[in-house]
Amino acid sequence: MDWLRSWMMPAQGSAYARQVDTVYLSITILCALLFLMIAAMALGWAWKYRQRGDVPLKTPYITHNLALELTWSIIPVLICIGLFIWGFHGYMNASIPPQDALEIQVTGKKWLWAFEYPNGTRSIGDLHVPLGKPVKLVMSSEDVIHSFFIPSFRIKQDVLPNRYTELWFQPTEPGVHQVFCAEYCGKSHSDMMARTHVDSPEKYEEWLENGDPEMQKMPLAEIGKLVYDNRGCAQCHSVDGSRGQGPSFKGIWGQQQRLSDGSTVLVDANYIRDSVLNPNSKVAIGFEPVMPTFQGLLREREILGVIEYIKSLK
Ligand code: CUA
Repeated sequence: MDWLRSWMMPAQGSAYARQVDTVYLSITILCALLFLMIAAMALGWAWKYRQRGDVPLKTPYITHNLALELTWSIIPVLICIGLFIWGFHGYMNASIPPQDALEIQVTGKKWLWAFEYPNGTRSIGDLHVPLGKPVKLVMSSEDVIHSFFIPSFRIKQDVLPNRYTELWFQPTEPGVHQVFCAEYCGKSHSDMMARTHVDSPEKYEEWLENGDPEMQKMPLAEIGKLVYDNRGCAQCHSVDGSRGQGPSFKGIWGQQQRLSDGSTVLVDANYIRDSVLNPNSKVAIGFEPVMPTFQGLLREREILGVIEYIKSLK
């Protein structure tokens, strides 16, 4: 059945994925078999009782067949009850996280995913989890309804404003697993993605302490580019001068920017830093004050990176 699974489904990344696939494939195969059986009988009997010659065939008068009717009622009912119990068992399993699960807070907002870990570490666009440990996500939204979806873990749950919803999973496959937003939430809905990094427990602890080791060695402008691509900036700010939800970053460094209150401000390191942490205090003219704050979501070095990156966009 494995070849069929890998042909029809994304890779399996969690213990739950195997359960889901087994139920799903079993139902699919059962449906296929029933379809073939019914189609074969219909065609076979149509052929067998076709009109032959000019002799009109008289249909015999049959009222019922108790044994046959009981058979075609009881067997499907038993199959349906069996499928229900099997599916319900999996549903309960997916609904109740284990007591010792690692708890991570997830916030969805237009248009990024932010994560907060038990020790206070935060990340945007990258969820880090240890291999083999149950992880529980406590999720909410800062604006509209989003939906947190990891296909390879076979889990999906709406993320709502003013309310918490939960998901849990136990990752079994190390590596990167794609996260999608599965609820249409506006212009950049389809860009609202994140990556789940399943690391060894040691690597996970190290990441919690120090962040990405490669990032510490990178030049600032490259860090800024990474932040731009992965933390949601690119959804609204272009780097080629084209107009988006927010002003383009191209060529703004060192310019005077008119603000919506009529004043002007020099685009320097302080203005950029301020716009990242307190985005709606100085809004460029012609744009809506819709940017979420990145207060506490970016490391100091990442903010410096963004400043250097914008500086480099001549
Ligand atoms: Cu968030 Cu679609």
